[in-house]
Amino acid sequence: MIAYASRTGNVRYVVSKIQGEAVEIKEGLQLDKPYLLITYTDGFGDIPTKVAQFLEHNGSLCKGVVVSGNSNFGHHVFGGAGDKIVSRYQVPLVRKIELRGYQKDYEMIQQFYETRVM
Ligand SMILES: Cc1cc2nc3c(=O)[nH]c(=O)nc-3n(C[C@H](O)[C@H](O)[C@H](O)COP(=O)(O)O)c2cc1C
Repeated sequence: MIAYASRTGNVRYVVSKIQGEAVEIKEGLQLDKPYLLITYTDGFGDIPTKVAQFLEHNGSLCKGVVVSGNSNFGHHVFGGAGDKIVSRYQVPLVRKIELRGYQKDYEMIQQFYETRVM
């Protein structure tokens, strides 16, 4: 399955391009099967608070992370949430995407999802 967080709609749009069961991260969400995490980046290369809290309880089932960011923030923090999740949970960084991403991104994410998560 796919677990995602979206504040202004970009990640939600990406999720709409991927075929698979998706659930939005809300406070207290507990999953019982492997999932692909798709999140935005907050602060200054930070993991959104609700995603960090979700991972504290569900981190072991995470099979990989896709992160959306805005490269205008600078390359040191572009998609920084993904880099932090990778080092904290030792999961693969499936894709770092600019805002809503492109068709190539969706294809790559779909392929990872079908081979490594489902
Ligand atoms: C307050 C704020 C801080 C942000 N900080 C970063 C950042 O440090 N690095 C980055 O790559 N993008 C940053 N972004 C950009 C978002 O991660 C990006 O627009 C993303 O596509 C938003 O996804 P969403 O529309 O699903 O919420 C920031 C956006 C906001 C509003």
